[in-house]
Amino acid sequence: MSQIESSVLPQRPSAVILGAQWGDEGKGKIVDVLSEKFDIVARYAGGHNAGHTVIIDGQKFVLQLIPCGVLRPGCTGVIGNGVVLDPMAFLSEVQKLRAAGVRVDGNLFISNRAQVILPYHRMIELAAETAPGRQTIGTTRRGIGPAYEDKIHRNGLRVVDLLNPSLLRTHIHNACHEKNTIAHALFGTEPLDPKQMYEEYARAAEQIAPFVTDTAYLLNHALTVGQNIMFEGAQGALLDIDHGTYPFVTSSSSTAGGAVTGTGVGPRHAGTVIGVTKAYVTRVGEGPFPTEIEGETADLLRARGMEYGAVTGRPRRCGWLDIPLLRYSNMINSTQWLVVTKMDVLDECDEIPVCTAYEIDGKMTSIIPADIRGFKSIRPVYTRLKGWSCSTEGITEYDQLPKPAQQYLEFLERESGAKIGIVSTGPDRGQTITMPEFEDLFARKG
Ligand code: IMP
Repeated sequence: MSQIESSVLPQRPSAVILGAQWGDEGKGKIVDVLSEKFDIVARYAGGHNAGHTVIIDGQKFVLQLIPCGVLRPGCTGVIGNGVVLDPMAFLSEVQKLRAAGVRVDGNLFISNRAQVILPYHRMIELAAETAPGRQTIGTTRRGIGPAYEDKIHRNGLRVVDLLNPSLLRTHIHNACHEKNTIAHALFGTEPLDPKQMYEEYARAAEQIAPFVTDTAYLLNHALTVGQNIMFEGAQGALLDIDHGTYPFVTSSSSTAGGAVTGTGVGPRHAGTVIGVTKAYVTRVGEGPFPTEIEGETADLLRARGMEYGAVTGRPRRCGWLDIPLLRYSNMINSTQWLVVTKMDVLDECDEIPVCTAYEIDGKMTSIIPADIRGFKSIRPVYTRLKGWSCSTEGITEYDQLPKPAQQYLEFLERESGAKIGIVSTGPDRGQTITMPEFEDLFARKG
């Protein structure tokens, strides 16, 4: 396969799409809507901790690991090397997709360099998260953190190794012994059986093998023949291991930079950066959330927005848009375009507060603190915008939005420094406003 010439830029623009805050911004629908303009959708980080809900003609699909591009005929799905792959979760998603008549064979590829999540990763995480006196992160308990720990420790199992039975047997034998000993000593956990684990994972490997390839070559080759790629971030920028609200983050590079290291496509070929934000903000799990609200209004947003985690079912914490955090997110990702989802959820609000600055120790600032102590001393300063008190559900033209809704979006665009490309007014593909300038960015597939 030919490699992309370093001097040649792809003919059709690619894009990185990611959540602007803590995940669950409604990317699933947006990736699905945009995928008709992309040849490939490539996931670059995270694992089955993500939950993408896509509704097509009333049929609901919840994908955790597989990029939702596969739902669109003619679009190839790639699971990049930056992802941690739970083989059982992958196979169960494949089975559900096949049962729903979605084509996956020859249309979905896994990087041979992706890391594998094994049962002892879950065992260690569960024990550590529930151990008395430990800091709870509120993880999804899928073994994501421990699998990335092994990767960085150079102790992990990659997909290419999963397909090598003798290596797999030795790896599971050694790792299981080590993890069982640690988990028992620290948390009193019952040991896992390496023999049974090897047999189950060797069987899974056989089913996974047809999907595995060197996806860095696949993606770069695709660019040389004029195809384009949507790099799909899971989670959100503020859950990034380096730039997020550490330690209340996930264990991967969920910012736009992860698209490069997590797929093997160089930065010049990654394309436009699109950040997805709700018209308000939510978060699941523990950690700072300066504009969080509680009480009746939070309950209203949660009920109207159906704010319950797609993976764990946990109620999401709700709050108002936070411009300093959004500007920070736009800065670390070089976000050019914003997609605003769930606009219709605000339909019943008389007034919508938006945080435009922070007061910290009596001083006004919009700099994001690096530590939890700093976050705790934030007092959000709000600008109150007029609500529209009528339905925006299903509106497909910007001009048809009520004036206060347009003013809300214009305010958001001005304050955040990124242009709005799409506004989502409901869960279905059709309930979408696309701005003409954004529409023209990505030519339809030929
Ligand atoms: P982990 O990724 O399971 O280790 O969880 C770490 C933190 O990230 C927890 O607060 C999770 O709730 C959060 N998290 C992980 N994946 C997602 C996601 O896709 N959406 C929202 N939050 C997530």
